[in-house]
Amino acid sequence: MWKPPERIKYKPQPGTNPSADEAGSALLFTPVKLGPLTLEQRTWVPAMVPWRSNEDGYVTDDVLDWYERFAKGQPGAIVIEATGIRDIPSGPLLRIGDDRFIPGLRELAEVVKSASLGKTKLLIQVIDFLTIRRRPNPAKFFGRFLAITDEHRERLDARDWTEERVREHLARVPDNELDDLLTDAELEALRMGYRERVTDLHLPHVKNLPRVLPDLFAQATRRARAAGIDGVELHYAHAYTMASFLSATNHRPDGYGGPRQNRVRLPLEIFRQVRRVAGEDYCTGCRFLSDECIENGSTIDDAKYFAVEFAQAGMDFLSLSRGGKFDDAKQPLVGWAAYPYTGRSGYECMPGYISDKAGPFGRNVEPVAQIKAAVNAAGFATPVVVIGGIHGFQQAEALLQQGKADIVGAARQSLADPDWYLKLRLGKGDRIRVCEYTNYCEGLDQKHKQVTCQLWDRLQLDEQGVKLSRDGRRRLVAPEWTNQQGED
Ligand SMILES: Cc1cc2nc3c(=O)[nH]c(=O)nc-3n(C[C@H](O)[C@H](O)[C@H](O)COP(=O)(O)O)c2cc1C
Ligand code: SF4
Repeated sequence: MWKPPERIKYKPQPGTNPSADEAGSALLFTPVKLGPLTLEQRTWVPAMVPWRSNEDGYVTDDVLDWYERFAKGQPGAIVIEATGIRDIPSGPLLRIGDDRFIPGLRELAEVVKSASLGKTKLLIQVIDFLTIRRRPNPAKFFGRFLAITDEHRERLDARDWTEERVREHLARVPDNELDDLLTDAELEALRMGYRERVTDLHLPHVKNLPRVLPDLFAQATRRARAAGIDGVELHYAHAYTMASFLSATNHRPDGYGGPRQNRVRLPLEIFRQVRRVAGEDYCTGCRFLSDECIENGSTIDDAKYFAVEFAQAGMDFLSLSRGGKFDDAKQPLVGWAAYPYTGRSGYECMPGYISDKAGPFGRNVEPVAQIKAAVNAAGFATPVVVIGGIHGFQQAEALLQQGKADIVGAARQSLADPDWYLKLRLGKGDRIRVCEYTNYCEGLDQKHKQVTCQLWDRLQLDEQGVKLSRDGRRRLVAPEWTNQQGED
């Protein structure tokens, strides 16, 4: 993972914890309305893919265990990981692209309700993504994948060469000389792995995205509702299709790219179709970026504009992340796909403990405060969720008190200790296992390995009924917090 060149090392700074009485009067633990849905408290576990589904995209027992564990900590809301809206093989990524996925998701909703004693609302993040391939072996790339054209022959000044000869020749050219012989897209396919973009209008399925996506998202939302899930988060963030429509790098000439009002068009059309199909009274919001954190990407000014548009359209909440783009991802090893959290934008999304002067804690707070101010100034009270490096009560409560956001989310801190919000509320903050922002969990995600936290995954492995990871070395969920009310 990319690290800021300053390489300043930070220790967690959770600050002092509240007594039970102090927590009882904290804004953090007061209810908040997301349109038709009321959260009992302003605490949120954002989407995290834990690689617990199977090749068919179903809710497995491991998926149930994962969310049950978070639900025991009774946060205001849990957002189910990015879940694919298409009925296509997507590796072990959860799917919601057909009605056959409803029963599994219904079971998941019931597990969360029961484990949280009805205190936690469950949302699901719905995602569309374009094709990305692994970085090819150069011999295979030149031998098979690359489509040889007359342009290659022109550039080689070898108009009469057979295809075979061009392939053999290119395979022998040193990498640094290929820049003059291949197109940018071909170079990217060779060095990073082929990746589709929303601007690839020569591909019919990409050209047609504005026609097919509204209903795909709407049907996914209808299924979420049928499964008893309380709401939907449209995934408009990071490296995926909808974030790419919002991106300042989107220059589609068909009215869905270029100026901001065109880039926001499809996200709004999707939202309206979701409303039509799944109902006005079903909680629907989105996650998008306060800043893409890439060269020539969307900035906070774009985010303010999008936020006001989404609020005006009637979204029930706005959840803000930042960065996490393919554009500045590191070159993957041969046989691996690019991972959008390896460049500077990836750092901004999941900042680690080695950081710059600004540090890894709450880098998204000030940008989100500005976005919320823009929404409020436009006359909307749409709740805004802030996420990124938040791991302490004082930090969370202060930003709420100062009106910088309405809801506080913590992904890695909740992974490190799924009971942390509950411990704070009960005045047991000294029992919290505090995230150290090592990004060990994110490293597992990158390799599509079952995600765990290094602070607990080797603890009490001999406990009865403990389930282990495929490598047999790690427990899959955090140990129980056994004595919630008393002393332990
Ligand atoms: C293992 C892992 C998986 C993640 N998966 C998703 C995801 O499915 N969708 C999403 O929007 N963000 C995802 N994220 C990003 C988090 O939701 C969150 O934005 C990020 O970790 C920063 O918040 P934090 O500092 O509280 O961890 C993931 C993060 C981690 C660590
Ligand atoms: S592995 Fe645990 S301690 Fe490290 S960043 Fe992830 S949640 Fe935090």
